[in-house]
Amino acid sequence: MLCVHDLTMRFGKLVALDAASFDVQEATIHGIIGPNGSGKTTFFNLVTGFLKPTAGKVTWQGRTVSGLPPHLVSRAGVARTFQNTSNYANLTVRENLVMASRNRIETGWLARLVNLKSARTEEAGHGRTADELLERFGLRDMADARAVDLPGGTQKILGVVIALATAPRLLMLDEPLAGLNSGEKVRLMEIIRSIRGDGLTILLIEHDMKAIMRTCDRITVLCYGKLLAEGTPAEISRDPETIRAYLGEEVA
Ligand SMILES: Nc1ncnc2c1ncn2[C@@H]1O[C@H](COP(=O)(O)OP(=O)(O)OP(=O)(O)O)[C@@H](O)[C@H]1O
Ligand SMILES: [Mg+2]
Repeated sequence: MLCVHDLTMRFGKLVALDAASFDVQEATIHGIIGPNGSGKTTFFNLVTGFLKPTAGKVTWQGRTVSGLPPHLVSRAGVARTFQNTSNYANLTVRENLVMASRNRIETGWLARLVNLKSARTEEAGHGRTADELLERFGLRDMADARAVDLPGGTQKILGVVIALATAPRLLMLDEPLAGLNSGEKVRLMEIIRSIRGDGLTILLIEHDMKAIMRTCDRITVLCYGKLLAEGTPAEISRDPETIRAYLGEEVA
C-alpha cells in the first residue's frame, strides 16, 4: 500500500500541497485529478524524490520513500513517466528498453564487474526482457527505429513501456494520454489495464475524464493543494464539490 500522511509542499508563500492524506491499494489503478496547478505533478515529485516535502511523508509497502533521493525510490520499485516525454531520443526503441532493463532493482553493476560470465547471461536477460516487452506491447515492428523518429503518440507509449522495463511495483503516469489520438489512447489504456492484471499498482494523473472514469478503481481529487474528494468513479462523478471545482455539470 502507498500511504500519504499530511503531505505538504510550500514554494515560498504558495502551498502547492496542503496536508493531503490518502491511501492507494496495491494492484489498483488510482486516479489523481483536479484543475491545473492543483499539486498533482508536485505530488509525483514528492513521492519520487524530485522534491522534499515541507511536512508529512509518503510510505510505500511500509517504507518511507518521501525525502529519499530518486535512485533509492526507484530501487524501492517505483517508476514514473513525465508530463513531457523523456526517452533517449537517439537510441532505438529496443536499445531504450535494454537500457531501462539494466536499471532493474536486482541488477548489481558490481556483480557485472566481477563476474563476466554471469554478466553475459545477465545481458542476454536484458535483451530477452526487451524483446518480450516489444512483443507484448506491439512495438516489435519498430524495434530498430530511433525513438526520435517515432510519431509523438508512439513515443509516449514507449515512455510507459520503458518505465515497465525497470520492473516496478508502483508505476506513476503523469498525463500519459495528452497529445495522443483516439486510437493511441485506447491502446495505452489497454496497456495500463493489462499491467494492473499483473499486480502492478498504478497512479494515473489525467485530464481525460472518460478514460479516468472508465479505468480507475478509485480517484483522489486535488484542488489547489487540498484534497477535495476521494472515492470510486461513480462517487466522484456525482460529488457536488468535484463537479463545482473541476468536472462541470456535463459529467454529472
Ligand atoms: N518547483 C516549483 N517552484 C515553484 N512553484 C512550483 C514548483 N512546482 C510547482 N509549482 C507550483 O505549484 C502549484 C502546483 O503545480 P503542479 O505542477 O503540481 O500542478 P498540476 O496539478 O500538476 O497542474 P497541471 O494539471 O497543469 O499539470 C502551481 O501553482 C505551480 O506553479
Ligand atoms: Mg501536472
